[in-house]
Amino acid sequence: MSGNQSLCTRFTFVAFSSLAGLQPVLFVVFLLIYLFTVGGNFIIICLIWVTPSLHTPMYFFLVNLSFLEMCYITSVVPQMLVHLLVETKTISVGGCAVQMYVFTALGLAECCLLAAMAYDRFVAICYPLHYTLLMGPHVCLKLAAASWTTGVVVESVQIPWIFTLPFCGTGKIQHFFCDIMPVVKLACVDTSYNEIMVFAVSVLFIMSPCFLILCSYVRIFGTILRIPSAAGRRKAFSTCSSHILVVSLFYGTALFTYLQPKTVQTPETDKATALAYIVVTPALNPVIYTLRNKEVKEAFKRVTQRNSLRLMT
Ligand SMILES: *[C@@H]1O[C@H](CO)[C@@H](O)[C@H](O)[C@H]1NC(C)=O
Repeated sequence: MSGNQSLCTRFTFVAFSSLAGLQPVLFVVFLLIYLFTVGGNFIIICLIWVTPSLHTPMYFFLVNLSFLEMCYITSVVPQMLVHLLVETKTISVGGCAVQMYVFTALGLAECCLLAAMAYDRFVAICYPLHYTLLMGPHVCLKLAAASWTTGVVVESVQIPWIFTLPFCGTGKIQHFFCDIMPVVKLACVDTSYNEIMVFAVSVLFIMSPCFLILCSYVRIFGTILRIPSAAGRRKAFSTCSSHILVVSLFYGTALFTYLQPKTVQTPETDKATALAYIVVTPALNPVIYTLRNKEVKEAFKRVTQRNSLRLMT
């Protein structure tokens, strides 16, 4: 660090500065998507709570995933919305650390929770006779708790470590929230070692759950293909198709963001993929789970019919 530069205490987001005229439009679009996502996930949670036939491990994890996604998107989007309206788009360094911590811990917890959900499908399809034994309520709780704990523990080490870096100069973040890499780039020391460490953590903690998910699905497909009747195969597959879609969307965008080679990374592609996994993917999950899932669809119909009957009488 050169001695004559003072440390900065605030960062400025310059992500949308090239789109100045579009900011009110973006505000409305992102606000609608945000309300849709929070509302959709909230409806899923309530629907599962009031439907006893959905009190199974798979839907326990789905409630937890929906809850997690509501927190995840809330750690980023409301502040981004405010920044689309106001002139000074700044955040204190401490606030930036908190946002990065919450966001990355929840993101990592989501990776692990998706792996736990894959394990649930694996046991249900490959060991149906032992399902109730292997996936008892205590096991589900422990798997969910382990997912949240992994995110919290890993980021409790990684984020304070990142904020030991000295940040000086103008502190302009080429992004719309405090993601790891755009902030690390602002340090006024050589950060190549830090970048390698961040990359290593991403590989280890994003790829390990991904690997478990792939292994589960290899076994699941092996088992499904051996089911003699076409109807049986379709039924078994339909219980995991929503999960496959959600996993592909989440990991597709996460891998693209955190593991792409630096040579093709520009602030523009970074922002576009970040928008995909922060704004679009969480909005799609409730859609996927309600439209593709017969049990959820039927529960939804029952609840709405019950209420409309009550309104008529
Ligand atoms: C999700 O799981 C965690 C860990 O078991 C728990 O603390 C949290 O309350 C759960 N959230 C919901 C909405 O079920």
